Amino acid sequence: MTVSIEQIREAALAEAGSATSAGVLDDVRVKYLGRSGKVTLLLREISRLPKEERPSFGQSVNKLKVEVAKAIDEAAETLARRDEGESLRSSALDVTLPGRRPLVGSRHIITQTMEEILDILTDMGFTIEYGPEVESDYYNFEALNFPPDHPARDMQDTFFITDSLLLRTHTSPTQIRVMEKTEPPLRVAMPGKCFRSEAINPRSHIVFHQIEGLYVDEGVTFGDLKGTLDAFLRTYFGKDTKLRFRPSFFPFTEPSAEVDVSCFLCRGKGCRVCKHSGWLELLGAGMVDPAVFEVVGYDPEKYTGYAWGLGIDRLVMMKYGITDIRILFENHMQFLRQF
Ligand code: DAH
Repeated sequence: MTVSIEQIREAALAEAGSATSAGVLDDVRVKYLGRSGKVTLLLREISRLPKEERPSFGQSVNKLKVEVAKAIDEAAETLARRDEGESLRSSALDVTLPGRRPLVGSRHIITQTMEEILDILTDMGFTIEYGPEVESDYYNFEALNFPPDHPARDMQDTFFITDSLLLRTHTSPTQIRVMEKTEPPLRVAMPGKCFRSEAINPRSHIVFHQIEGLYVDEGVTFGDLKGTLDAFLRTYFGKDTKLRFRPSFFPFTEPSAEVDVSCFLCRGKGCRVCKHSGWLELLGAGMVDPAVFEVVGYDPEKYTGYAWGLGIDRLVMMKYGITDIRILFENHMQFLRQF
């Protein structure tokens, strides 16, 4: 009998200790302490023993029962702790994981440049006005003194929508719209997108941007145009920037000029960007043609004015060394993120 108690103890403790789940441990409990468990059966045997053997056997079996019960309880506790640890571990937040960075957008380099230039112009007293991108033939050409069938229209390859509607080829039509609703004096900057039916290649695109300038008052002279452009362009490109006016033709200005600035990269010495000329071609300008004043009902005997149209895209290309204009309009994230 004593041997049997020893064997049962060893087996019970080993099984309790190695149980891998609460279910297995329950089986161990039933096997030893259940109604017909091995320890329970030993307890029943006590009454069948001769009287003198009962106390010591009874003591041993009771001790066995306590030990087995304790081992099973301890094993249950260990298993519960293990399960709890596992569920904590699997549901835990790893606070050391890097967070998800929200994507932050930025303004396009063309927009940034336009805003920079408009800031300078508003500091100089210009107000800002916007005109529609879909224009009528009247505002885009006729009111600007391009007669129908005049060869000057060929300078601007046009996307027509209908016979009389088109995508504006320049920001100059906004001049007419502003003058129609405003009495002089006025000093306005008019930024926006323009469109021309050009072949798309590294140097030209069907969409580009301009900032139009217009100043009308009594006694405005070509000297005012030069002085204003000088002040404006030197604020943007730097104090030692020089301007050069070349005679040109636009139907809505007389006289007309193309304006170059000394190359801001080589300071006029000649480099790849200015094609070794020292000059960069930037804008068209001139004195508003009296015929245009007549169209909007201004008295050309009383008022004079100047106007200019500044191309933004080529300016951005030169400033940032961009050799292919198409990259400006391709949503090329790597390119755009640089600015
Ligand atoms: N609208 C002309 C163009 O896009 C540029 C221009 C020239 C605008 C002279 C003007 C100006 O206001 O006076 O080719």
